[in-house]
Amino acid sequence: MILEIKEISRHFGGLAALSGVSFALEPGEILGLIGPNGAGKTTLFNVITGFLPPTYGSIIFHGEDITGLRPDQVARKGLVRTFQSTNLFQHKTVLENLIIAYHLQVQSGFWGLLVNSARAKADEEAARKGSLEILEYMSLTDLKDEMAHNLPHGHQRALGVAIALSARPKLMLLDEPLTGMNPEESRRFIELIRGLRGRGISLMVVEHDMKAIMGLSHRIVVLNYGRKIAEGTPQEVQSNQQVIEAYLGSETGT
Ligand SMILES: Nc1ncnc2c1ncn2[C@@H]1O[C@H](COP(=O)(O)OP(=O)(O)O)[C@@H](O)[C@H]1O
Ligand SMILES: [Mg+2]
Repeated sequence: MILEIKEISRHFGGLAALSGVSFALEPGEILGLIGPNGAGKTTLFNVITGFLPPTYGSIIFHGEDITGLRPDQVARKGLVRTFQSTNLFQHKTVLENLIIAYHLQVQSGFWGLLVNSARAKADEEAARKGSLEILEYMSLTDLKDEMAHNLPHGHQRALGVAIALSARPKLMLLDEPLTGMNPEESRRFIELIRGLRGRGISLMVVEHDMKAIMGLSHRIVVLNYGRKIAEGTPQEVQSNQQVIEAYLGSETGT
């Protein structure tokens, strides 16, 4: 197992956003996480990636307990979430964004800043080379000198994934990656996600586009009011009575 989520609970005051959620992810798997609005999906992503501590429970990544680590420590272990466009440096170019991310995520931290200038120069070249490779893979090479704020929505998302890739992740979490995309952008983005898996990256995806998530995922976990109500293949989950009721009972039907 690449990731084991064990009995995770997260309370906000009196609200139980997550209650005793357990499941696991196999290497190379694309796992879909679905559930009505407010089910706890984003909270679970925040807990897994260290942005929020759980109230109870533990997160095991590659057999190591990572509960309570900071987001940057979790990222260095190879577990990242994608960044929303609000996390981009809007007035920097696409390439500059990647180089900054490379330094923030890959560099050996504070002590790395104090080493001699020859080493710093080599780091700079490695950052540039690595960043260009990622941009090529994400089909963003032609846009490398464009300001982030000038990018169309779909390309901003692609840049968010590119930044996450600069941490050389083993597991990537995507929260509603298709929101705001037109059908063509969605189609391309789904292919891209499949391609990541082909490169040995496991994925966990929250997405309200049911057709997309059912087509993409090997397995689906369903949350409702902070509890896991179902887990199985897309087919199994779609015919699960509790899942059907959870969605019928929610106005928004995410
Ligand atoms: N930082 C927070 N403080 C208080 N309540 C929160 C916070 N984050 C999420 N919640 C609440 O936790 C529940 C789950 O939210 P969330 O994880 O965003 O759901 P989802 O992503 O499935 O729509 C909701 O009731 C939400 O209002
Ligand atoms: Mg959410």
